Amino acid sequence: MKKIFRSKYLLTVLIACFCLAVVLVTNGCAESKKVAAKSGVELWAENCQRCHNTPSATSFSADQWKTIGMHMQTRALLTTTERDKVVAFLQAGSRN
Ligand code: HEC
Repeated sequence: MKKIFRSKYLLTVLIACFCLAVVLVTNGCAESKKVAAKSGVELWAENCQRCHNTPSATSFSADQWKTIGMHMQTRALLTTTERDKVVAFLQAGSRN
């Protein structure tokens, strides 16, 4: 009687661990495909105007946008990939 109870308990724990592992492996902390697919202009429009109006791309040079990107990445809580996309978008319209 006791033995049966134990094996059932073990099985339940094993199934629970397996489910947790599957969820962690498939979901984890990875950004969703929808977020990863966002373009620089989308990320810029969604994140860079929460705190201030963003100056137009022509307001700064490509080099300046690189530095601004590093500063604003931490403020806007962007990943490095997202920051690179936003900076590339701004640099494309920059004054040099
Ligand atoms: C959490 C709020 C916040 C977010 C989000 C944010 N910024 Fe800022 N930003 C600030 C603050 C505060 C300053 C002024 C202080 C400073 O320069 O650090 C600033 C300054 C700037 C400046 C300098 C303006 C000037 O005339 O000198 C630029 C350019 C800029 N941000 C661009 C961006 C871009 C691009 C993004 C999106 C990636 C962004 N910001 C997201 C808060 C934010």
